[in-house]
Order: sequence, then structure tokens, then C-alpha cells
Amino acid sequence: MMLSTVSSLLLATTQGAPANFWLPKQASTSAQGVDFTFFVITWICYFFFFAIVAALLIFMIKYRRKGHDIIVRGPTHNTPLELAWTILPLILVIVIFVVGMRGYLDLREAPAGSYDIQVTGQKWSWTFDHPEYGATQVGELTVPVGTPVRLLMTSNDVLHSVWIPDFRVKQDVVPGRYTSLWFEALAVGDYNLNCAEYCGKDHSKMFAIVHVVPKEEFPVIMTKLASEYEDMSIGELPAYAINRLYNRCQSCHSLDGTSGTGPSFQGLWDRVNKGETEFTSGEKLSNLLGDATTYNIPENYIRTSILDPQAHIVQGYLGSMPSFQGQLKDKQITAFIELFKHLDEVTDAAGNITVNPDGTPRQ
Ligand code: CUA
Repeated sequence: MMLSTVSSLLLATTQGAPANFWLPKQASTSAQGVDFTFFVITWICYFFFFAIVAALLIFMIKYRRKGHDIIVRGPTHNTPLELAWTILPLILVIVIFVVGMRGYLDLREAPAGSYDIQVTGQKWSWTFDHPEYGATQVGELTVPVGTPVRLLMTSNDVLHSVWIPDFRVKQDVVPGRYTSLWFEALAVGDYNLNCAEYCGKDHSKMFAIVHVVPKEEFPVIMTKLASEYEDMSIGELPAYAINRLYNRCQSCHSLDGTSGTGPSFQGLWDRVNKGETEFTSGEKLSNLLGDATTYNIPENYIRTSILDPQAHIVQGYLGSMPSFQGQLKDKQITAFIELFKHLDEVTDAAGNITVNPDGTPRQ
């Protein structure tokens, strides 16, 4: 353990050190500074631990009580000693401050021109949006190697925390506000991202994999991800929609039947298909369905609800949904319609998503 610590201190002075007894490998440009601070403090603690124990043992032997009637008066004042135990710790604290502050400032401020990713924490999954490519990932995050990446993060429900141990970065994700962190990955590979804030029953399952890929591969992967639905058959669309598109709806539309800012997606198709939906105007959807009316078939009502949500506002809601005109391609709207029709195949009654984007059952 001691030897491992010595070697780890040496390794901490080179960037990208492998894992050791104390710490996982250094996989980001910030890791070295964090480890260096850790080891400076650890070594100061070692030094004083052994110095104090040694002094304790020596004094126990040297100044032990040697007889019954010897009374020695202790010193009441010693200026050099008092100066020493004031000034030396002060210097040590300043050293720790300087070493720590340098790393802290580096961690706080993302370099200009960083690649931005929007992160949303939600019980109990992570969603990563790439605004530059219009691509969304859930449970996995792909980033280019050797590029500063900035995560702009918020939560849909409770406190979460993004923690990527190999990158030595960790930041709380807070509902109602944004926090950010940044990193620059040193090497291609897969790294763990964990939730580091106890957030309820499935906190331990709230993790994601960070895929660090070569710079030149990154745009290819992102472009493919942004348009993956284009090659999909109709039958594959519900699994795609629930994993890749639903995260944009989840804050308002539940999957378990509870009302939010908007109606739940559970049973939505049934209500729409039967024309049961009532609007704030007092009209019933059934009166608007059929040839020579507003919506010849229910699918068109769904389409309008996504592109022009204010056209007909469902009774009991405020109509606060934004238009998704220009944000969703036609096939993605089809994917939503397929999702509503087959919601029970991709979620359970409690509203948990049960399939992966490729349709395989989710663990
Ligand atoms: Cu999210 Cu713990």
C-alpha cells in the first residue's frame, strides 16, 4: 500500500497515469491536477501521522513518571515553539490552497469553443442532447477524444449528480437551474458515468457509458444517430421514439397515466381513436373526425397537436406546449403516432420504458 502510494505520487506527475491502489486511471486532462492535489494532502497527512506517533512514543519513554515524589513543572510559555506551530501550518495550508485552487479554476471554466452537450437527469436515467447534430442519446454519451466537451446540465425532478471517476469530474444536477462541467478525454475508450447523489429507489441504476471516439469518427456517428430513424421500418419506430424522442416530452407527458402539464401518453391513442378527447372550446374530438371535417383520420389530429399544439387544447390543460414545427421530421412524427399506438409494447403499466432503441428488452 505504501509502495503503491509512492509510485502513485510519481505517476500523478505525468498525465494519463494508469489506475493504482488509490485511484482509477487518469482519462482526462483535469485528472492529473486533481490527483496531484489528492496526493499532496495525503502525504502531508502521512508525514504528520508518523511524526506525531513517533513523538508520542519517544515522550512516553523519555518523560515517563520515574518516581512518586518527583514533581516537574511544565513550561508556561515558549515563543519560538508557538511561532513554529502557527507559521508552519499556515504555510502548509497556503500550499494546499494554491495547489487546489489551480485545479479548481481549471475545472470551473470550460475552454472557449468547447463542444456543448445538454444533459438532463431524471429518475433514473441520463439524457444527452447534441444540439449541433440534433441527436439525442439516453444512457450513453459519445464524445470526441482530445476535444474540450462542456456539459450543460439540469434535472427534471430531484437532485442528481454527474460523476465520471476516470475524468475526475463531478457536478450536481439541480432541478430549476443549470449547472455545467467540462472535460477533455485523453484516450479512446469506454468510461463509467454514475449518479453520485442519492435520488431514490433506483439511484444505483442511474448510470451511463461515456464512449470516447476518434475525432474524425465523431461527426459520422452523430450524423448517423440524428437520422437513424430514416432507415427504420414502421414496426421499429415505437422503440426508437420512446428512447430517442420521448425525453423531449417527459417533463409534461407521463407514461403512467398521471396528468402533468399535459395529458399522459398512457391511453392517449385509445382516447383519440374513439374521439373521446374534449377540448377547452367544449367540442369533442369525435365531432372533428371523419371526412369533410377538420381531421379525416385521428392520425392527423396527433400530427396537428405536435406541430400546432394550440389548435385544439385538451380540457383541463393550459395549452403551454411549444410547437415542434421544424424540430421533428415527418418520419419522427410518424414514430410518435406509432409510439402511441404501441405504447404498451415499449412501456409497462407503471410507465417504465421496457425496450432499448433497437427493440431489445431493457434490463
Ligand atoms: Cu440520480 Cu442518484
